[in-house]
Amino acid sequence: MATAAQPRVDANPLVEGLERLPIHPTTLTIFGATGDLSKRKLLPAIYNLAHEGALPERFNLIGSSRGVMSDDDFRELARESIRSFSRRRADEKVLGALLEHVRYVAGSFDDPTVYERLAECNRAFDEEAGIAFDRVYYLSTAPSFFSVIVGRLGEHGLHRNAGSEVRVVIEKPIGTNLAEARELNNAVLDVLEERQVYRIDHYLGKETVQNMLAFRFANGLFEPLWNRNFIDYVQITAAEDIGIGTRAGYYDTSGALRDLVQNHMLQLLTLLCMEPPVAFSADEVRDEKVKVLRAIHPPTPEAAMYMAVRAQYGEGTSGGEDVKGYLQEDDVPTDSTTETYAALRLEVDNWRWAGVPIYLRTGKRLARKVTEIAVTLKPVPHLAFHQDGSVGVQPNQIVLTMQPNEGVSISIGAKIPGTRMRIRPVNMQFLYGTAFMSESPEAYERLITDAMRGDATLFTRDDEVEAQWEIVDPILAAWAGTPGAIPQYPAGSGGPEEADALMQGEHRWRAI
Ligand code: BG6
Repeated sequence: MATAAQPRVDANPLVEGLERLPIHPTTLTIFGATGDLSKRKLLPAIYNLAHEGALPERFNLIGSSRGVMSDDDFRELARESIRSFSRRRADEKVLGALLEHVRYVAGSFDDPTVYERLAECNRAFDEEAGIAFDRVYYLSTAPSFFSVIVGRLGEHGLHRNAGSEVRVVIEKPIGTNLAEARELNNAVLDVLEERQVYRIDHYLGKETVQNMLAFRFANGLFEPLWNRNFIDYVQITAAEDIGIGTRAGYYDTSGALRDLVQNHMLQLLTLLCMEPPVAFSADEVRDEKVKVLRAIHPPTPEAAMYMAVRAQYGEGTSGGEDVKGYLQEDDVPTDSTTETYAALRLEVDNWRWAGVPIYLRTGKRLARKVTEIAVTLKPVPHLAFHQDGSVGVQPNQIVLTMQPNEGVSISIGAKIPGTRMRIRPVNMQFLYGTAFMSESPEAYERLITDAMRGDATLFTRDDEVEAQWEIVDPILAAWAGTPGAIPQYPAGSGGPEEADALMQGEHRWRAI
């Protein structure tokens, strides 16, 4: 018998997908509406939802930023951003209808009058339509404003609204270490309840990342193998070919460990390693993910020095062109020791995973863009073939590719045609592009929809963020305690040789 505590199946995106589930009328406010993320990702995502009819039937947009402009100026900025960055060519009719209910509130985020005007806009939308719109506040600002904005929302009573839901979406980073993350979480939870808070990790919005759950829990084939008895090691790669571009100001204070490992890569790891949740509801899924993080012992400072490697890109070539090294990039201090590459060896110390090394690596200016998880099974226990026929026998590898060429491939040993018993690995492959013949939505489309719908499954909970920092903090501390030049790798290469030292026994990094 269904009880009130059970999640509603029809409201669960992991069960039902994006399509056509009605969403309560919503007013979405973007703080930092004229910034890069808003222009490149958020506004185009909202447009694509409108294009698919996936927005609530009644939808209002409020932009807020420091720059002074009229509602019409903001409408024009939104129109231009959508035209430039939408994955679909903008249909002028859809665009026109989407931008009908748009307001802009200028001012600095600590200015109380901004919140008075926001309250007025929200009230006016409600009165005009005769309903209480749900309110979603999207914080797409510099991190230093996150707690300021939430505090002001609370002071002006905007953190709740009679007859509708109020939710706050917070971009990354949640702090730059554990202490800051706790401080921010506390400040936010002084005003809001955790169920109102949606901490973004855009990797969770990627179709292929969600597909890991389908792959593991919708197939009987793999789950029996998914443990220390069959898996030899796992490697998770998030390689990028781009450099830091114009982001030196942010990146040089962050580095690869904070920028990608603490959030995106640990998310991939937890989805790969978690136990099947009892239900695909926000807390059931996140409880299981947090258990995985808790099973990773934060390294001691001494251990951090041999289970983590950092490096910086030097000059090299990328896309056939000569490119600068990190220290020559604009606005990077010439003596910077910020890492643009990080590799780690972690272990999830629980019944399922004990003894299985999990290798993580990420870096800028590597040979190509690829995000993948490769699970290598243990070698077969005995080779009955003649010695020379056995040469090509390799342990099976299951590779989940998040991007590009999204899909899953499984390497299996097969007999090379001929009169001799010679074996080599061949691939069985599933590719999203050819299997579904449709373009996947952008991560932000999915995440904005879920925030409006009130499903936090694909967002990071407070204890989850803190557990992530607990793993990363000691490594940051160990690195900070060993100043001086750090290893270099040529731009466009597969990364520093030093990363090979993390690999145990016969384990090898896959080519990038
Ligand atoms: C962001 C990082 O969170 O993720 C960037 O700040 C990085 O440095 C980006 O380039 C990678 O995202 P994606 O979706 O391109 O893999």
